[in-house]
Amino acid sequence: MSTKKRSDRTDKVTTQTVVEMKQKGENISMLTAYDYTMAGILDEAGIDVILVGDSASNVMAGFDTTVPMTLEHMIYHTSCVVRGVSRALVIADLPFMSYQVTAKEALISAGRMMKEAGAHAVKLEGGKVISKTVKKIVDAGIPVMGHLGLTPQSIYKFGTYKVRAKEEEEAEQLLLDAKKLEKAGVFSIVLEKIPSPLAKRVTAELSIPTIGIGAGAHCDGQVLVTHDMLGLNKDFSPRFLRRYADLHTEMSDAVHQYIGDVKKGDFPNEQEQYN
Ligand code: KIV
Repeated sequence: MSTKKRSDRTDKVTTQTVVEMKQKGENISMLTAYDYTMAGILDEAGIDVILVGDSASNVMAGFDTTVPMTLEHMIYHTSCVVRGVSRALVIADLPFMSYQVTAKEALISAGRMMKEAGAHAVKLEGGKVISKTVKKIVDAGIPVMGHLGLTPQSIYKFGTYKVRAKEEEEAEQLLLDAKKLEKAGVFSIVLEKIPSPLAKRVTAELSIPTIGIGAGAHCDGQVLVTHDMLGLNKDFSPRFLRRYADLHTEMSDAVHQYIGDVKKGDFPNEQEQYN
């Protein structure tokens, strides 16, 4: 893997790259990261897009929902991730209430995310109601990713994390929202926890890429929360999640061994100390 500085890379993934990937029929890979070390591992492995999700609220901060996350929290996590990345596109979630009140406030939040954290793009949840805000941010030169379906910042409105848009009316609204967002200038849309046939329809009707999480195989790309797919989080097992490792067990075993070695006086040994 190249050790070139981020600014020197010519193969960096941009928002334009992901749009072209859709046109070429190349699936887009996206995972979450919230810190420098994890971001570096994902980037070196060749991930296309890193999302600094407000799921940091759950997996990093231990909250039940994403609602408590602040702009300051997200700027901190995003700046850590950006320092670990040389190739991937880094997208940062704007947290709850940092963009819903006025379009002006949304633009200030998005601008801070770009200037203070170094994000390459921002993600906002919602459809038609935020389309004017999206346009204002895009017009200022900041790329925006949309997010439809299960939008976790609205959990207190939904009351549940169940699959969205199973009924005809909500499905039609979601399609309209996707088209509104595309018209407002988003370069891509996350579709979370919706029926696969609906995701297929949305994907076919848009010229920008869709990235699915629990939205089936027909999206232009897929995203998972890295802590979930690495098996760090053993109590979360929705149907859509594929676990690629059992790091919870591996880490726990390693820590048990370390404790045992310290207790026995087996660590450090002769080679592990300075004479
Ligand atoms: O916050 C997040 O991690 C997300 C993904 C689940 C898409 O928004």
